[in-house]
Amino acid sequence: MNLRALAAKVIFQVLEKGVSLSVALPEQQQKLCSGKDKALLAELSYGVMRHLPQLDKLVSDCMNKPMKGKQRIVHQLLLIGCYQLYFTRIPSHAAISETAEACRQLKFEGLVKVVNGVLRNLQRNQAPLPTDNETLAFNTPAWIIKRLQAAYPETWQQVIEQSHQRPPMWLRNNQLSQTREQYLAQLTSLEIPATEGSSANAILLDSPKDVAMLPGFADGAASVQDGAAQWAATLLAPAANDLILDACAAPGGKTCHLLETENSIDLVAVDFDVKRLERVQQNLDRLSLNAKVVHGDAANIDSWWQGEKFDRILLDAPCSATGVIRRHPDIKWLRKQADIEELATLQSQILDHCWQWLKPGGTLLYATCSILPQENAEQISAFLARTKDATLIPIAQQPNSDDVGWQITPGQDNMDGFYYARLIKG
Ligand SMILES: C[S@@+](CC[C@H](N)C(=O)[O-])C[C@H]1O[C@@H](n2cnc3c(N)ncnc32)[C@H](O)[C@@H]1O
Repeated sequence: MNLRALAAKVIFQVLEKGVSLSVALPEQQQKLCSGKDKALLAELSYGVMRHLPQLDKLVSDCMNKPMKGKQRIVHQLLLIGCYQLYFTRIPSHAAISETAEACRQLKFEGLVKVVNGVLRNLQRNQAPLPTDNETLAFNTPAWIIKRLQAAYPETWQQVIEQSHQRPPMWLRNNQLSQTREQYLAQLTSLEIPATEGSSANAILLDSPKDVAMLPGFADGAASVQDGAAQWAATLLAPAANDLILDACAAPGGKTCHLLETENSIDLVAVDFDVKRLERVQQNLDRLSLNAKVVHGDAANIDSWWQGEKFDRILLDAPCSATGVIRRHPDIKWLRKQADIEELATLQSQILDHCWQWLKPGGTLLYATCSILPQENAEQISAFLARTKDATLIPIAQQPNSDDVGWQITPGQDNMDGFYYARLIKG
């Protein structure tokens, strides 16, 4: 099937069915053979998600009446057509004819003329990208803009701009296989330019690569993990023979990193989501690591754990993921304002419950990939206020020692937006 038709299916799944891009895209990519076509399908799908309000306005302004019901997929095809005209170097005649052909393949024969007409109009008019309101100007929902303005009065525009950049590819060197220097040397010998990141085993590639090209990847020599996420293991600092709970573990990036950091630990990796939990085991297998993988609720540990309390707990809580919009631009459209309150409540329940399972003197590291204070500093301040035996230990990297936790904003040192708070039970 024509690549634009597949892209329309991806966008339809995300916008009309609420499926995440990371699920919808691979489903369609597997129908293509060439790597180049797969990359173009991703480019079109990600591009539309990044620029949705502007594309929507440009297309809607060229139409007499909106497409409804099943025809919505043709509207989404028009967004893809518009994206090609405005944001890619694809020659316009090819963009228009391929997109019209996609309309035919999607079995909307009767709308091929409309698609042709709208795209020709867009090409002829060359209207500037609309910026009439903040949603259009920043390609971001108004509620997210408002919250970022309140949280980052000086830098909110930069935060949004960074959330629209193409993210870099980070690797985590597996220190059980080789030193970071040795792995960097292997990358250099394959002419894959890369530099050291700030945490112990982080490596930043100059440009993204297919993992199949990376030395020893299949055998576990390295993993793909953002630089911000790699701070978790350093900050939790597992000690020899510790009993550790990874309370929201799937897909297991931090689980594996903890084991690579200190192989003698006893690690219990739990997650609520069975499907995602399978990926924890796959990651452990690829890296030849062992953990006790449990399907369970981190807010009800008693129901699945009869062992002793934990020396350390990593709570990488479910969150809005507003810090990783540059990697998952569909988050802007799938998340709703009301989700934030619900997530904050869930986070506080899991946090309170995990705290009961921490040994006196133990460390709990709270983490999110959110940039909203309600899920981060405000969440931890409220926890400290209601929890007598909790002490916040400042993190060396946080800009001010009296900040409540370390808030990383997207693009800071090339990292994703992330939050860490380190708590000691005392
Ligand atoms: C941010 S992700 C964790 C990412 C993971 N730590 C990593 O580094 O790969 C949050 C996870 O929390 C899980 N989750 C949500 N509610 C949960 C609950 N009540 N108990 C256990 N896991 C839960 C979700 O299924 C999701 O996999």
